[in-house]
Amino acid sequence: MTTTRSFGRRASGLAALFGAGALVLSACSGGGAGAPAAGESGAAPAAEGSIKVGVAMPTQTSERWIADGNAVKEGLEKAGYTVDLQFANDDIPTQTQQIDQMITNGAKILVIASIDGTALSSQLDAAGAANIPVVSYDRLIRDNENVDFYVSFDNYKVGVAQAKALLTGLGLTDKDGAKAADAPVGPLNIELFAGSADDNNAGFFFNGAMDTLKPFIDEGTLVVKSGQTSFDQAATLRWSQEAAQKRMEDILTSTYGGGTEPLAGVLSPFDGISRGIITALQGAGYGPSIADGLPIVTGQDAEIASIKLINDGVQQSTIFKDTRLLAAQAVKTVEAIGKGETPEANDTKTYDNGVKVVPSYLLEVQTIFKDNIESDIVGSGYYTADEVAAGVTK
Ligand code: GAL
Repeated sequence: MTTTRSFGRRASGLAALFGAGALVLSACSGGGAGAPAAGESGAAPAAEGSIKVGVAMPTQTSERWIADGNAVKEGLEKAGYTVDLQFANDDIPTQTQQIDQMITNGAKILVIASIDGTALSSQLDAAGAANIPVVSYDRLIRDNENVDFYVSFDNYKVGVAQAKALLTGLGLTDKDGAKAADAPVGPLNIELFAGSADDNNAGFFFNGAMDTLKPFIDEGTLVVKSGQTSFDQAATLRWSQEAAQKRMEDILTSTYGGGTEPLAGVLSPFDGISRGIITALQGAGYGPSIADGLPIVTGQDAEIASIKLINDGVQQSTIFKDTRLLAAQAVKTVEAIGKGETPEANDTKTYDNGVKVVPSYLLEVQTIFKDNIESDIVGSGYYTADEVAAGVTK
């Protein structure tokens, strides 16, 4: 059995270690100014005496993780840390190897957005043995005690917001959630998509959404015509756009006469999945836009390609998780840990990783429709109006 160490003890041990100047050595020991190792995307040259932080991100196939990785790196470097940032191409062995390497190369703190939340136990055991605190970034790492802190968004509320957007798009409620005066009586057909079953967030999103949709399903206003209502049936491994497109095509074939029968909406937990669903729907003859009868499709992450689709009246909504704020929270957390302090938490109950409840800082999210892109996305400087129009970032 592994020894249980409290965060406080580990953090103060760390502060003592830093005080002793051990970091000059560790900062120079790995990565460094030489040619980066294969797959390495940004180990900055070690500033003398600066603390090295390993930042492990899941993939570069989704633009949000690139934005997250870069924002965390930039924030930590501004705060005086040396950063070893790695992306793992959604491949579990790549991520485990990258984290092993970070530890070997002298990282003193790890910030990890896992691919599979249950697959990092040996890395976390090694981190624990070396007194390296671990911050779980957006996705909770499960089944290990050496997870010191979790920074994320309120993931249950994300699911609630997705379902509320769907209900609004279907004309059943207004944007405040009140029953719409001219609500259709239904039944309206919907289909459900969930995220990757190995990502702890996926269940939170699905539960939040289903709790919100359930009364409408129970009273018969909404019907999941395929009958695929369980999380396992709805799940999309690795949040894959292609897998989502394929499942949508299969459902259209099996349940909607190949696209000839009415489908009113699709719950989607992530913009990449939404775009796969939309491709399948358009391919079967729905749309091409909502005004032409494309079913209401939700989303998450405010990815630029989806913001453009929302602006063009194709995707109905997304959930905006401001990665700048999440990155800033991760940086604050690392700084507190670096000083031997306890990072600020605003939730110490919800995120049980199977071994312990991990203290968390959860940020709020915002639902984006076509009519608030200008004020909330462009207005907050997340994307420019030109980027929204082009559907790509500069
Ligand atoms: C989840 C994350 C979502 C989305 C998804 C796919 O863990 O909370 O915002 O990014 O991964 O990348």
